[in-house]
Order: sequence, then C-alpha cells, then structure tokens
Amino acid sequence: MDLKSQIDLARLPRHIAIIMDGNGRWAKGKGMPRVFGHRKGVKSVREATEAAAELGVEYLTLYAFSTENWNRPVMEVTALMGLLVDTIKKEVKTLNENNIRLKTIGDISKLPEKSQKALQEAIAETRNNSRMTLVLALNYSAKWEILEASKKLANKVKKGEMDPAEIDEAAFSNALATQGMPDPELLIRTSGEARISNFLLWQIAYSELYFTKILWPDFRKGHLYEAILDFQKRERRFGKTSEQIAG
Ligand code: IPE
Ligand code: IPE
Ligand code: MG
Repeated sequence: MDLKSQIDLARLPRHIAIIMDGNGRWAKGKGMPRVFGHRKGVKSVREATEAAAELGVEYLTLYAFSTENWNRPVMEVTALMGLLVDTIKKEVKTLNENNIRLKTIGDISKLPEKSQKALQEAIAETRNNSRMTLVLALNYSAKWEILEASKKLANKVKKGEMDPAEIDEAAFSNALATQGMPDPELLIRTSGEARISNFLLWQIAYSELYFTKILWPDFRKGHLYEAILDFQKRERRFGKTSEQIAG
C-alpha cells in the first residue's frame, strides 16, 4: 500500500509547520553556490503545499526567513528576497486554481518594497480561498512575536480597555501573529538539525516534533506522508497517563 493511502484522514493534523532547512548544504554537496539550493527548494515548497492541500490539512506554515537570517552574506539575502518575489508572482495563479489562501507572519515592513508589494498583492488576490491557508513566516522570530503581543496587551491595559487579570492563554494567543489559527499539531524540521531556531515558541507547546535528515531541496510529497504517518503512531497525552487516554 502506498504511503498516502495509509494516512488516517480522520486524524490529520489541522496545522503542520515546517522549518525548511538544508538548502545551503544541499548545494554545497553538488559543488554549487548556496543560492542554487534555495532555488531548488521552491519545488519542495510546491510539493509540500500540494500534498498538504490534497490531504485536507487546513494550515501549512513554512519558515522561509528568520529575523536572524539578515545576518547572512548580503548577496544571499538579496537572492532570497528576489526569489521570494519571483516565486510569489509565479505561484499566485496556482494558489487560486487550488483554492489556497496566502498569509504571512513576521515583520513584513522590513522587507524590500518589491517583496512587500508582491506579498500584499498575492494575499489580496487569494484572500477568499478556503481549501487551505499557506502561511509564510518571513522576517519572523518567535521572541519578536511574543514581545509584540506583550506590547499590544500592555497598551490595552494602559488605555483601560483590558484588566491584567484578563490576560489568559486565549487572550495571549489572540495577540500573536497566528491569531485565529489552531496551534500546529506537527512540526517538521529537515536537514537533521534538532533545534527550533526561534520558530513558533508559544504555539508548539504541545506539538509533536519530527526531525528528518532529508535536505529541503530533496523534500517531496512522500516525505510529508512519512511525517504524518509517524505523527499518527504517537500517543498525544497532554500530561495525562496512557491509561486515561485509552479509556
Ligand atoms: C534553509 O536552508 C533556508 C533558509 C534559512 C532561508 P539553509 O540556507 O539554512 O541551508 P543550510 O542549513 O545552510 O544547509
Ligand atoms: C531556520 O533555519 C530558519 C529558516 C528555515 C528560515 P536556519 O538555517 O537559519 O537555522 P539555524 O541558524 O541553523 O539555527
Ligand atoms: Mg540552515
């Protein structure tokens, strides 16, 4: 039986997040510049998006550029931003054909004008799509997001719109960039690194973590199916005992 048909669609994660890592090492292994790996990674983005949408996943969040990634060589950052604009422009049509809505999390205002414009247009053009939401984390860091949320809530309290006692989990979640989205049940990281790198810290409090050695440019639909199948074998206990879960 193929991998896809082994997936229990009734127990699909509603939200999958992916740390797309290993583009540079993939290129290096081929004796090519790092940027070549980023370019090849676009196909993997397409595969992951298609596979998730076909299965019925509601949200797919992809870590595309972290706040820390600004510290890379200027040439690489410029190439990544260029690739982003080109890809967004090329893919809007496909997103619409597949009824996929685009969203971003992160401080977009710090991206080059061209990137901001391409993103804003793509978000506007796909806003009524309802099959799946594709969330790109761009100039994103979880600590930044948590600080922004804290400032938002502090301002509300200062203006007398909110009492400090009202700051509960729901209110805090609502102040995050992922407002309105379910927390990811499954977080995948490629390239063999076992770290979170400042991604979705609040939202992954109870996520199942899946690390694979596959480098991002090699990631295909089958790898997403493998991750989901692994996820479906796990027992999510949320602090309870195994017996309580079974009963
Ligand atoms: C992930 O691949 C892409 C981004 C962070 C933008 P890397 O570029 O981090 O590849 P490695 O980790 O150096 O191999
Ligand atoms: C994390 O990958 C960020 C993205 C995938 C966009 P990095 O390659 O930047 O992470 P570190 O620096 O190895 O932790
Ligand atoms: Mg990396």
